[in-house]
Amino acid sequence: MIGRLNHVAIAVPDLDAACAQYRDTLGATVGAPQDEPDHGVTVVFIDLPNTKIELLHPLGHDSPITAFLTRNPGGGIHHICYEVDDILTARDRLRAAGARVLGDGAPKVGAHGKPVLFLHPKDFNGCLIELEQV
Ligand code: CO
Repeated sequence: MIGRLNHVAIAVPDLDAACAQYRDTLGATVGAPQDEPDHGVTVVFIDLPNTKIELLHPLGHDSPITAFLTRNPGGGIHHICYEVDDILTARDRLRAAGARVLGDGAPKVGAHGKPVLFLHPKDFNGCLIELEQV
């Protein structure tokens, strides 16, 4: 059911420093920061030949990233995103298997303008999983 790895998201305490590191030290193509008020994050995409890296930084007061950075002050891998063809079919199949979908279960529009859902990390070996319909 899941397809390609769409991106790996890393929560970072200092977005400018992380961008400079990926651009100047790792030599990657780093995009412009994008505010995503619906998700409480500022996002920077880094294009790699086979996938993307998504740098996440808190935006606003009740960002979902704030608690993560409190627990991981130096930053850390926050989630990974798999592509699916049909997000509602994927959601229903996962729920039938007992997996918890975060929020009300209705897909939100993600950072790429496509529908996304998140799956509870406790159901997936401690890894927060994002599904994106492509
Ligand atoms: Co993501």
